[in-house]
Amino acid sequence: MKKLSLIIGIVGIVVCLIGIQQINAGCGQEMPGPDPVALWNYITKVSPYKNWKFWPDHQGMQPGRAPHGPFHKVYVNEAAYTSTKPPVKYGAIEVKENYNKEKKLVVITVMYKVKDYNPSDGDWFWVKYSPDGKAKPFGKPRGCIGCHGTRAKNDFIIVHEFK
Ligand code: HEC
Repeated sequence: MKKLSLIIGIVGIVVCLIGIQQINAGCGQEMPGPDPVALWNYITKVSPYKNWKFWPDHQGMQPGRAPHGPFHKVYVNEAAYTSTKPPVKYGAIEVKENYNKEKKLVVITVMYKVKDYNPSDGDWFWVKYSPDGKAKPFGKPRGCIGCHGTRAKNDFIIVHEFK
């Protein structure tokens, strides 16, 4: 009888540990809401964007156009990278580092695809950050949407061509 309760006890602990692990894994995958502070925390701490990939057709430092500045790098998370056609999957994030002509990082612009956030304009949450994470503007800025909207058929994405 003692043996049986010991076995039940051990099984119980194992089940509990697996359960906790699964809960933790679930928490790790939780995406932020359309909020600039939560998104900054996500892209710098939870899933640091510098560990992400580049689009195959837009690798590393690239020359850029106005209004974003002379050089940039565009990092994409797994949900964006594995999207093979527009519109990209919900949860997709693109982080664009914008450099001046001396190649100093001056601005970070982000597009984040959030379900039901802004259906009429591709459900993108837009943010312009300073390098230390201050957001202005953010949300549904007319400027961002107006210019990127010329590429609505490519899901508002400019640097990557879906085939
Ligand atoms: C006048 C046009 C224009 C405006 C306004 C604009 N962008 Fe862009 N954006 C571009 C162009 C052009 C690119 C391609 C890369 C480059 O040339 O810098 C780009 C690229 C990007 C990218 C990389 C992903 C992609 O689309 O290819 C992000 C992220 C981005 N912009 C965010 C923003 C945000 C956030 C705003 C508003 C604060 C904004 N953009 C406003 C023209 C614009």
